[in-house]
Amino acid sequence: MHLLKRAFTVSLFLAFVWTMQVSANELTQVEQKAAVCFGCHGDKGKSSNTQTPSLAAQQSVYTVNQLKAFKAGGRVNAIMQAQTASMSDEDINNYGAYFAVQLPPKASGDPALVQQGKSKATVCLGCHGSAGEGNGQFPRLGGQQPEYMIQQLSHFKSGARQNGAMQAIAGNLSEEDIKALAAFFGSL
Ligand code: HEC
Ligand code: HEC
Repeated sequence: MHLLKRAFTVSLFLAFVWTMQVSANELTQVEQKAAVCFGCHGDKGKSSNTQTPSLAAQQSVYTVNQLKAFKAGGRVNAIMQAQTASMSDEDINNYGAYFAVQLPPKASGDPALVQQGKSKATVCLGCHGSAGEGNGQFPRLGGQQPEYMIQQLSHFKSGARQNGAMQAIAGNLSEEDIKALAAFFGSL
């Protein structure tokens, strides 16, 4: 009985180690494919281009939703529509999983603007997380490129990017609010 129990524990342990190795190998394979993304989105998804979003530490559900939206044409961007045109659902899920486990980015901003943004951000935190970390379909904003966030908030405001909640929220933000909020979230 005792021996049986031990054998069972050992096999459980081996199964665990095997699973870990498989998923680590899978991530390495995805990383090789993701090299094409790094050219624009930065090494391991940490962008140093103000117009291009970081993907690192992004919520996997959100990344998957966006890639599907580009592919289907619901989110309009010529570069990303071309990138996603021939992506399979498996590729899309793999990218979501890969970028979600990379170290979070950080963007710096003007301290006065960051403070101003902080005072306006309470309304955002319920969906985007108390530290801007996101949650499922609600994207991480913490450490995101401020210029990119300004563009996206303007797109929600004009209706060029569609999402019920964000169009309503951005509709009530002034350009000054948008700049301050983007600086604040970028600094997290
Ligand atoms: C030639 C440059 C370029 C390449 C290569 C590229 N992207 Fe993008 N990507 C962009 C730009 C620019 C945007 C912002 C689009 C917009 O303004 O809506 C973007 C947006 C995204 C978004 C939305 C992010 C967000 O926060 O909403 C995801 C997800 C994404 N890209 C994933 C990828 C993946 C995965 C790859 C590799 C297979 C890739 N991209 C390759 C330029 C690129
Ligand atoms: C009711 C929930 C909710 C609230 C409150 C909210 N958001 Fe959002 N936000 C979303 C969702 C959902 C998305 C993703 C939309 C999509 O899938 O295209 C989003 C997307 C965004 C994006 C685009 C991120 C990217 O990577 O492209 C920005 C920027 C953003 N929100 C900023 C804000 C700011 C600033 C506030 C506060 C003033 C705020 N949001 C409040 C739900 C919310």
